[in-house]
Amino acid sequence: MNLQQKVVAEFQNCFGAPPSTRVQAPGRVNLIGEHTDYNEGFVMPLAINRHTWIALRPRTDRLVVLHSMDHDQTTTFDLDKLEKDKGWQEYPKSVAWALQEADYKLTGWEGTTICDVPLGAGLSSSASYELAVAAAFAAVSGFPWDAPKMAQLSQKAENQWVGVNCGIMDQMISAVGQEDHAVLIDCRSLETTPLPLPNGTSIVILDTATRRGLVDSAYNERREQCEEAAGLFGTKMLRDVDSAALAEKVSRLSEVTLRRARHVITENERTLQAAEAMKQGDATALGQLMNKSHNSLRDDFEVTNHELNIMVDISQNNPGCFGARMTGAGFGGCAVALVESERAREFVTAVQYAYQSITQLKPAAYVCRASTGACAVPINS
Ligand code: GLA
Repeated sequence: MNLQQKVVAEFQNCFGAPPSTRVQAPGRVNLIGEHTDYNEGFVMPLAINRHTWIALRPRTDRLVVLHSMDHDQTTTFDLDKLEKDKGWQEYPKSVAWALQEADYKLTGWEGTTICDVPLGAGLSSSASYELAVAAAFAAVSGFPWDAPKMAQLSQKAENQWVGVNCGIMDQMISAVGQEDHAVLIDCRSLETTPLPLPNGTSIVILDTATRRGLVDSAYNERREQCEEAAGLFGTKMLRDVDSAALAEKVSRLSEVTLRRARHVITENERTLQAAEAMKQGDATALGQLMNKSHNSLRDDFEVTNHELNIMVDISQNNPGCFGARMTGAGFGGCAVALVESERAREFVTAVQYAYQSITQLKPAAYVCRASTGACAVPINS
């Protein structure tokens, strides 16, 4: 049984009847454009074929009753009395809060949920959870699905209820993902441009099996450094600064400010160039930009760790690989590689073997497909 069947079977088990609706929302991997979203810059992620699923049916009262198959726990909350707590149930609750704050009239529901986006790996399991819950509310409450708006409200839920100061990228791609496409997102205008992956290439996610605590504080520190840097250019966002403006001010910036600003400015430029390479179907150019992005994240933004550098190095030196870089917030988690499809299996075996021999850590690898964003999926399909 696959996940989408399991979640329906479990609903039947828990509630003694079939669900009326089933929804899904994907995790994501970012191809290029890292630590640019909160600078109102450009990102180019894709939604992956790993999802949060919810099977559900409406209730006549104002309760949400949700059984998580991953936690083997059921949570119940009242839409009229939302109170902050801790744990996985804060994700559904936070989305209910953000939707109601935006004046959506919500119906209660009961459901089961299951997720195969690996937790804590930097593949946005939380965004996929939030968008799945938003899709669940849309389905039972009958309001129209406005993908960018749902992404913004889910980001608000994560920022203000869960307390994680993330940008818009993860929620946005989970909402607007397209099969076989990466999506260029302008994080200022929220304009989205789907771009097909180059023919004959595969996206491989390589999990270093390292996780670092304090990601949040290091992330917040980077955000502050970016704001401070923007201020020195007389603007609020580094999006408005280009390489020429940076060059003019080099001598007046501190060493750290220069490096942080240089990453964001050049990463925005690389992301736009990567979009052009995608339009040309040029995997070689795209791969080279990914390699440069990694160097910048390692040397200027300083958000890689030793294991990510090893994983990326091994990948880049494999003959089937066009390019590789760390992906997501960094400090551990995953790398992403653009690989010749015909050599993807060989690539995975070789990289896993080499990584394990050097680090003694067992890495996970996923050859992934770009998938569609959050939506309802008919129960009979
Ligand atoms: C995390 C955040 C995103 C983005 C990335 C870095 O995934 O949730 O908003 O800032 O880090 O690119």
